[in-house]
Amino acid sequence: MKFGFFDDANREYVITNPATPWPWINYLGNTDFFSLISNTAGGYSFFKDAKFRRITRYRYNNVPMDEGGRYFYIKEGDTIWSPGWKPCKTPLDVYECRHGMNYTKIKGEKDGLTAEALFFVPLNTHAEVQKLSLTNNSESTKKFKLFSFAEWALWNAATDMENFQRNFSTGEVEVDGSVLYHKTEYKERRDHYAYYSVNTEINGFDTDRETFMGLYNGFHEPQAVLDGASKQSVAHGWSPIASHYLEIELQPGETKDLVFVLGYVENKEDEKWESKGVINKTKAKATIANFDTAEKVDAALAELKAYWDDLLSVYTLDSGDEKLDRMVNIWNQYQCMITFNFSRSASFFESGIGRGMGFRDSNQDLVGFVHQIPERARERIIDIASTQFPDGGCYHQYQPLTKRGNNDIGGGFNDDPMWLILGVVSYIKETGDFSILDELVPFDNDESLAKTMFNHLTVSFDHVVNNLGPHGLPLIGRADWNDCLNLNCFSNDPNESFQTTENKTEGSKAESLMIAGLFVVYGSDYVELCEKVGKQEEAKRARKHVKNMVEAVKQHGWDGEWFLRAYDYFGNKIGSNDNEEGKIFIESNGWCTMAGIGLEEGMVEKALDSVKERLDCEYGIVLNNPAFTKYYIEYGEISSYPAGYKENAGIFCHNNPWIMIGETVLGRGDQAWEYYKKICPAYLEDISDLHKTEPYVYSQMIAGKDAAKPGEAKNSWLTGTAAWNYLTITQHILGIRTHYDGLIIDPCIPVGWKEFKVTRKFRGASFEIEVSNPEGVSKGVKQLFMNDQAIEGSMIPVMPEGKYRVKVILGTST
Ligand code: BGC
Ligand code: NOJ
Repeated sequence: MKFGFFDDANREYVITNPATPWPWINYLGNTDFFSLISNTAGGYSFFKDAKFRRITRYRYNNVPMDEGGRYFYIKEGDTIWSPGWKPCKTPLDVYECRHGMNYTKIKGEKDGLTAEALFFVPLNTHAEVQKLSLTNNSESTKKFKLFSFAEWALWNAATDMENFQRNFSTGEVEVDGSVLYHKTEYKERRDHYAYYSVNTEINGFDTDRETFMGLYNGFHEPQAVLDGASKQSVAHGWSPIASHYLEIELQPGETKDLVFVLGYVENKEDEKWESKGVINKTKAKATIANFDTAEKVDAALAELKAYWDDLLSVYTLDSGDEKLDRMVNIWNQYQCMITFNFSRSASFFESGIGRGMGFRDSNQDLVGFVHQIPERARERIIDIASTQFPDGGCYHQYQPLTKRGNNDIGGGFNDDPMWLILGVVSYIKETGDFSILDELVPFDNDESLAKTMFNHLTVSFDHVVNNLGPHGLPLIGRADWNDCLNLNCFSNDPNESFQTTENKTEGSKAESLMIAGLFVVYGSDYVELCEKVGKQEEAKRARKHVKNMVEAVKQHGWDGEWFLRAYDYFGNKIGSNDNEEGKIFIESNGWCTMAGIGLEEGMVEKALDSVKERLDCEYGIVLNNPAFTKYYIEYGEISSYPAGYKENAGIFCHNNPWIMIGETVLGRGDQAWEYYKKICPAYLEDISDLHKTEPYVYSQMIAGKDAAKPGEAKNSWLTGTAAWNYLTITQHILGIRTHYDGLIIDPCIPVGWKEFKVTRKFRGASFEIEVSNPEGVSKGVKQLFMNDQAIEGSMIPVMPEGKYRVKVILGTST
């Protein structure tokens, strides 16, 4: 069952039934000011950091779900309704929500009155702008009342939800004409306030929640709205809100546009006040003035659209398959930008208070984003590397506001360092900017410890080399990519988190085959980079370690039919046919096959066949099999999940692409493609009722074959799945791959595909690449031409600015 449709021409998903199986959300803003908005206008705003600068309040896990947001209430006669259906839930004659690239339009129509709200954060603006267009489609004059609504958070989203003995006394507001200011804590340590304005005179306002709402009323029936008039309340403590009240009259056919601005201002210490107790409103007024007419708002939206036209023009596909095209050209790239911005902090599954920017997560996210805005990727890489320790280890997370490592989580995740190599190499391959290697980057955010970025890569590489276990395989530390395979934790205390409990690595023999494969892949990249920059000795040294790792995997990491997953604390095998549960895991088989370990000996093929046989199911590839059915103290959190969910045999969409890429190493294009389609949201639109989450973005997890309800997804939006699937489809299946000296053309497609076209902008040049497959092969470039000139090999060189026609003919070479 569907709840809407894709409008590809406008790059929108159009929701036509507001009662989606889960709130289907969108993100507004893409640098500093951000908002989450659901298809019924629920959600919240924050500035840079969803924990420390929460602007509006949101209650996670509410009943009903997704109550609270930026709401408009319309009262015409005795009928009260909202354009987004919620919170009033009055049946609408028309409802439509269009989620687009960083904007959302929600339209409701009731008894001949249409209310269409446009929400977005204009470029370079610290505010969410809301344009509400009201149209009288009836034959008679309409008189009605309009109330806006926003509820302020008391800045720190964590204490906002717990410290009520203080919170109920701190709230402070200022009312100045049509602008309602939230200045809680501004007179002490804060240099920031928020405001909510409308570009017209108002008939009243409210800033005290209970006065507006009534103590016993829900969001669907605020007392002021029921009464048909605001109360002009000025909040002192309790819960400050902002609500405008307007009386409106519209002639038949008349439209009135109102512009609301929900903004954030920071002032320097000596510029905080206009006079004692009166805040300096200069910046707020300037932003309000920038959007004081509908025309200005429309112009800002056009600018935002042009910005996205540009971002999405770097890689465009014409495959003849509209679902694939919309993923590659629009939604997958969009989700990559969102994950790059938010890491795993704020979504409808991530509360914005728990997690900062992940070291491994952000490095992976940027491979899906680097082609869009390489400068931002560069800055991010430097931020991430600055949280590394001199020995190559690193903080697992950092807070975006301070960019400093997060002590609560600490470090010790032994896969983390390797991802920095991925990040840097991907950046250089996209841009050709080797200067990043010479950049002086601090360790542990300490400038006095700064060394070159190249040195950061060396210590990353060496962190693995210096932490090998009894089999010559990488010690796992706190955990590798799988945060829940906690081999050194032994937790029997339900009051502690698996993620932060004491890590007992002393004397541990726990080794990871996932890190081993990872090391072979990115260690080889490191070797290649060394060669590229003329560090032959270092290349030689590193190559030896990679070779040793390959040997160690072949010798100690092969189980006969697939690659082992790990050795536990005591040196026992995990992911072996000898185990009763968890005989086979996806991660090690993904990484070791991507690395091509044992390709000649048939290990890659065997491992992938075993994955197909034991892990594949209707909805994707599960993480492990058989699922754990009891708690294994020596394995940790993985065995805490019920079978089929999350890391315990869920379909963890992040790692499915590792198998797809493994399949492309073998040249099995049909299999790679089948796996790709299984978890790709656009192909799941018809089963939205089962899938539950948005059909336009990937979810972290789909319940696996052992779950109570296989196929049901959770944790949409903020997942490494976005970047990995983008990388896989663009660089490995369609096979247009960035390299230091050009673009490698190496598709691996289903034999039935006849042709496809890609336009790729790369280092200033634009390549129109036409791939044809007359012999019906999966892989193998037979002939390559650029502007009708034959090219030897399969790489298009870096070219000066201009347009180039590239013709690729696949086939078996004669
Ligand atoms: C989740 C993991 C996540 C980890 C760290 C665990 O509960 O299952 O997916 O990476 O927490 O926050
Ligand atoms: C989600 C985390 O963000 C990511 O870092 C981790 O690799 C996966 N879960 C798997 O546990």
